[in-house]
Amino acid sequence: MILAGLKRLEYRGYDSAGITVVADGQLAGQKKAGKLANLTAALEQEPLPESHQGIGHTRWATHGGPTDANAHPHWSMDNRVAIVHNGIIENFAQLRSELMADGVVFRSQTDSETVAHLLRRALDQTNDLAEAMRQVCQRLEGAFTLVAVDATQPDRVVAARRSSPLVVGVGEGENFLASDVASFIEYTRQAIELGQDQIVDITPTTVNVTTFDGAVAEVRPYEIEWDLTAAEKGGYDWFMRKEIFEQPQAAADTLLGRVDTSGRLHLDEMRIDPALLRSIDKIVVVACGTAYHAGLVAKYAIEHWTRIPCEVELASEFRYRDPIITRTTLVVGISQSGETMDTLMAIRHAREQHAAVISICNTNGATIPRESDAVIYTHAGPEIGVASTKCFTAQIIACYLLGLYLAQEQGMKFGDEIVTLVRELTAIPDKMADLLERLEPVEALAEELLSAESVIFLGRHVGYPIALEGALKLKEISYLHAEGFAAGELKHGPIALIEPGLPVFVVVPPPGRDSLHDKVISNIQEVRARGAQTIVLAESGDAAARAQADHFFGLPAGPTLFQPLLAIIPLQFFACEIATRKGYDVDQPRNLAKSVTVE
Ligand code: AGP
Repeated sequence: MILAGLKRLEYRGYDSAGITVVADGQLAGQKKAGKLANLTAALEQEPLPESHQGIGHTRWATHGGPTDANAHPHWSMDNRVAIVHNGIIENFAQLRSELMADGVVFRSQTDSETVAHLLRRALDQTNDLAEAMRQVCQRLEGAFTLVAVDATQPDRVVAARRSSPLVVGVGEGENFLASDVASFIEYTRQAIELGQDQIVDITPTTVNVTTFDGAVAEVRPYEIEWDLTAAEKGGYDWFMRKEIFEQPQAAADTLLGRVDTSGRLHLDEMRIDPALLRSIDKIVVVACGTAYHAGLVAKYAIEHWTRIPCEVELASEFRYRDPIITRTTLVVGISQSGETMDTLMAIRHAREQHAAVISICNTNGATIPRESDAVIYTHAGPEIGVASTKCFTAQIIACYLLGLYLAQEQGMKFGDEIVTLVRELTAIPDKMADLLERLEPVEALAEELLSAESVIFLGRHVGYPIALEGALKLKEISYLHAEGFAAGELKHGPIALIEPGLPVFVVVPPPGRDSLHDKVISNIQEVRARGAQTIVLAESGDAAARAQADHFFGLPAGPTLFQPLLAIIPLQFFACEIATRKGYDVDQPRNLAKSVTVE
């Protein structure tokens, strides 16, 4: 049961795994570096005793490399207590030296192991696992989910959570704890969402949740709607490919119910006082990776519609630069998982500065939305592939809804203007679907460029973040060097990289009033003159762009601000094609995790 549960978590990315059970007053367990298969093989060789009380863990290395010894669970010296841990114990060095001075001999280099020894020491005083856990949590700094068993306390598992995922599954005569409902959904759909700084104490028939101070805690039971098959590959070879093709549905679901027939926007989750929204004089978006690129795209639209300055910051940089945040600043945290530690810490910092915080998230009940004043959920469904695709386009749509909502509340845009813009948005899913039926040329292109050693992506205006995102997709799943540039920046240095045969993707904005389009055409001419192989993405009717293309990919026509939602699709698909042709694990690329829950 535990192994099957760990398998459901494989998509999060990991580099070692382990399991411990309690049987006849003893701990028994195995733990192995590498994929789950190594652990399964070890358990086949040395099966564990019969038990219905145990803990398991897949680890993504932070302190200490991916070795058997560093894998979780970690045991106390007398093999009485076992724990697993997600997160980082920031004061572990001090705790470790204190324990070593007490004669504790460590078996690993991990921060997590300190908790096993602290718990064991606390049991000398209290002999109650939940009370011991409470005492230990008072001493820990950082983010953690901890789950522990005590060989002398049968039928009991105790856990604690601070800023790291943990959910309870309530079964019939059995109860579960996991970082993701996928681990126990086949046994029960009754779940309990836990809050911050809580201890949960389960037996086969009871679930007790208390605060770190010992008070009974408020909890929210809920029914899991998520259908497990939704996360199955549904006939595709990779989750990522399935998710690329799910984008029309994800976009439509994200728009669903948020616009009424009169064109008025309704963001029900927007629990922020409209008067406060009207007072906003600066917006700061904080996010990482692909979510950051979604923020970069959104900036153009939000500033255009609301005339409010909108900064977009890498979450990992934000709080260290002493940012200027006031009560009239709106901070927007974009996060697919809702557990990205960098982004969580950034919005925490924002709240300490009394800013209003809105999160844009794809995971119901995740830590980031729980710590925001309001949340706009993207309804993209579970995104299993580590490389984010459908959540990227859904995030842009959610950001656009936020921008239009702010414009509506600030009176910067009126019903008829919003109706026009929303009509463009609601036309996107069909345009995406049309695009997804015309991807064969991208397959041929991937075949032709399979031996490329470096790829450049260019774009201007909202096309620039698409160049960055196209490069990131290619980097993270095909391990190829790829770089995105603002097309206008080329002549300030990067053009030195251009040499004969170098593939250069260019996202060309729709022909329009301003000179944006023509400037990009000249940028293509500049790289062509130096022998680059140009792959041009432009509106199908754009003859000027087509004339500059060694490979041309036609996009459905539409306003500039909405083009990113379409232009990114061939680039996602191209990256997927290259990686599959290279035989790489598209869904779990090396070194990456789906949710980066450490800073
Ligand atoms: C995207 O393809 C990457 N896997 C990564 O950059 C990701 O977008 C980033 O870690 C942010 O994750 P989040 O949206 O869950 O916060």
